[in-house]
Amino acid sequence: MEMTPEIIERLEKLNDKYAALGQDLTSYLDGLLYADSVKYWNYIQVDTLLSLQKPKTSFPDEVIFIVYHQITELYFKLALNEFEQLGEEVNLSKSFFVERVGRINRYFEALIKSFEIMVTGMDKEQFLKFRMSLLPASGFQSAQYRFIEMYSTDFINLVHKDKREALEGSTSISEMYEFIYWKEGATEVLTGKKTLTLEQFEKRYQKEFIALGEKCHTRNLWQVYQRLSPNEQLDENVINCLRQNDINVNINWPLAHYKSAVRYLQRTNDDIAATGGTNWQKYLPPRFQKRIFYPELWTESEKEDWGKSWVFDSLA
Ligand code: HEM
Repeated sequence: MEMTPEIIERLEKLNDKYAALGQDLTSYLDGLLYADSVKYWNYIQVDTLLSLQKPKTSFPDEVIFIVYHQITELYFKLALNEFEQLGEEVNLSKSFFVERVGRINRYFEALIKSFEIMVTGMDKEQFLKFRMSLLPASGFQSAQYRFIEMYSTDFINLVHKDKREALEGSTSISEMYEFIYWKEGATEVLTGKKTLTLEQFEKRYQKEFIALGEKCHTRNLWQVYQRLSPNEQLDENVINCLRQNDINVNINWPLAHYKSAVRYLQRTNDDIAATGGTNWQKYLPPRFQKRIFYPELWTESEKEDWGKSWVFDSLA
């Protein structure tokens, strides 16, 4: 093959690059010479990926349950990748903000749409059996879900709605963490005690949650938004992408998820009390949680009606 001017130009650039690092280009060219070519299955780690499903039972539908949780965690990872870049961006512009929040919105929209795979895509008899082998694990223990919340909003908005007013103005993440809204979701109805699910979750992640809460104090999405100019903050596209984010994460995903709990777990209140379980019917619906990341962007009546019409529409 001929040494074209393009090849020579690139070799010179490479030579400059390695010379600047005090390195000898020839050795690196040797490295290229001996390196194996990249193959799809190695690069994507297909074999490893497909070896990560380890059912606890032999019910075939348990694989659907595991894979769909893994898919969700991967989308959460993509969302966190965007939150991190938004928090670190030094030359923040309106277009960067809208584009990156748009990416997060698309990830959640893909999850909301695909949740039917859980809601209608498993055999109920099988589910009710294999879930007994998974206790006390629960999607409640998804740490990435909690990271996303902390990367989205000021910590006070994650405090239980009954405690928010009292803690308004607190700068201590540990103090607010004591009353984080989701502890209610893993508290036994009869005794008021923390469930084992919650105890194990906190033992594993509590330190990380508090550290991340502190880190996100100045770089959660709401704080990033405040760094836009006053005019940019009023821009329709900017406001709409944040409002869409609030709807996706705090209404539509929770509702899609709630529908699966209704399909598989709905029983009478007596049954729930008898098992000493959590009252997820009173905890999961967005109209009860009233978790809102960007309350400043909603009117009083929109906040008052948070999740109400959607509940009736989708569960009727
Ligand atoms: C058939 C499918 C599912 C059912 C029946 C179900 C059921 C439940 C229930 C009853 C809770 C309340 C806490 C508890 O009692 O453990 C819960 C919480 C939760 N689940 Fe699921 N779940 C399903 C699928 C998923 C999937 C695919 C994910 C994805 C990671 C997930 C993530 C979560 C999260 C993040 C919470 C906490 C929600 C919050 O605190 O607001 N779940 N789930």
